[in-house]
Amino acid sequence: MNQVIGTLNGAPFTMGETLLELSYLVAALLFVFGLKLLSHPETARRGNLWAAGGMFLGMLTTLLLHKTDSGTPIPMANVWIILAAIGVGSVVGWIVARKIKMTAMPQLVSFYNATGGAASMLVALLEFPNANMSNKGSVLVTLLGMIIGAVAFSGSMIAYGKLDGKVGDIRSGLMKYVNILLMLVTFGLAIWMLFSGQTPADLNWAIYLLMVLSLLYGVLFVMPIGGADMPVVISLLNSFTGIAAAMAGFIYHNQAMILGGILVGAAGTILTVLMCRAMNRSLLNVIIGAFGGGPSSAAKEQGEMKEMTLSDAAILMSYSQSVVIVPGYGLAVAQAQHVCHELDTLLSNKGVNVRYAIHPVAGRMPGHMNVLLAEADVPYGQLVEMDAINPDMPNTDVVVVIGANDVVNPAAITDPGSPIAGMPIIKAHEAKNIIVMKRGRGKGYAGIENELFFGEKTRLLFGNAKDTLQKLVTEIKSL
Ligand code: TAP
Repeated sequence: MNQVIGTLNGAPFTMGETLLELSYLVAALLFVFGLKLLSHPETARRGNLWAAGGMFLGMLTTLLLHKTDSGTPIPMANVWIILAAIGVGSVVGWIVARKIKMTAMPQLVSFYNATGGAASMLVALLEFPNANMSNKGSVLVTLLGMIIGAVAFSGSMIAYGKLDGKVGDIRSGLMKYVNILLMLVTFGLAIWMLFSGQTPADLNWAIYLLMVLSLLYGVLFVMPIGGADMPVVISLLNSFTGIAAAMAGFIYHNQAMILGGILVGAAGTILTVLMCRAMNRSLLNVIIGAFGGGPSSAAKEQGEMKEMTLSDAAILMSYSQSVVIVPGYGLAVAQAQHVCHELDTLLSNKGVNVRYAIHPVAGRMPGHMNVLLAEADVPYGQLVEMDAINPDMPNTDVVVVIGANDVVNPAAITDPGSPIAGMPIIKAHEAKNIIVMKRGRGKGYAGIENELFFGEKTRLLFGNAKDTLQKLVTEIKSL
């Protein structure tokens, strides 16, 4: 392995180093291949495994082949510490991932994201004392790794706390200005450190101050965000973590880390932009913070919700030509996906054209409804994206809204003062009949009333979605 097989930039290059770099290239290819498979629910599980395989390869070859600055392998004591850390992390991650409920997945993603940000922040903190201050490029990536990693860490922890209901919102118009000021001070300090001409030892206090300022910015940046805008922030923080990991990769000249980080950063950025579009928020608003609808703003009572009997619902659906099911967060809470699929099969067997309308932010995580319905083996062909199904709405006999609220709220179109104003919705209100399944008068994530539920064409089936669907299935079978 120590056999020199060539030179690179005048430095000898050994067999071990060649194999290590090659393994990083293979790992990066596996990440790309995994990402490609992740783009479809049918292949996503395999994609995850391929990408995890790439990560495993990168870790294994680093442990076996990486040389320290003095040209020796990683000391055995360090190898054991690394293995112990990997062991503990893997066991904890495995247990948590197995136990977590599907509806709490966004919290888990936020938490894992925070750990990635923290790792990058610590790498920058540990490596800054070894920085060569005349090499501005390498100092810059260290400082950026510190700032972005720290913001991703503290911001994701706050996002985790908010999603879990442990942390409340701070709402004040002032926050926007405080955040801008803090961001300017943080970057100002980093730029000063870069050009101060002082040694890392002289700047020891400054790197810790930079860390504290960045951590504080992460907290204050996420704190005011509530309502329907949280998913955008989580995705943005996810891209931050990727970029921070890429910075850490630059610090160590590690190709796998750089490529892996860039892939996460790019994927997170693309998702952020797509979600911004889906929720009609500008990215600038997200970065400055202090946006999002107040949970109780614009909430107004709209009159009576009209109930219907199960047998009326069963007859209406069975004798329709086309039925569109709009699944939402409540379907996931009730874990009613299997019985929902039973309903759509029953109706299809009666000759009804049954489709599912999928809103990009229905539920609590990107792709939530796709994953949920895939779990119940609903064929992918039956799932239709919002933009594709909306033009069909006026010709749809019955729309069945199951545990969805914000994503079918016409206030997004009709009320410019609504916290969800401008968010594209599934136009359930344009259908000939609307059946809504919900437990009571509960509001959606944005905390506002929904005029659809009080409309002339709308009838309610109150109760837990799973129970209601089960009774409906029995009713249809008995027709
Ligand atoms: P929501 O607006 O959250 O509405 C859920 C509805 O389900 C509520 O009206 C609730 O009314 C009902 N419900 C709850 N549990 C139920 C049960 N067991 N059985 C029957 N009904 C039940 O859901 P949505 O329409 O899917 O919209 C998603 C919202 O979450 C959007 O505002 C979105 O921006 C936000 N969000 C999305 C994400 C992502 S990325 N998808 C992440 C975070 C937040 P009752 O209490 O009366 O039953």
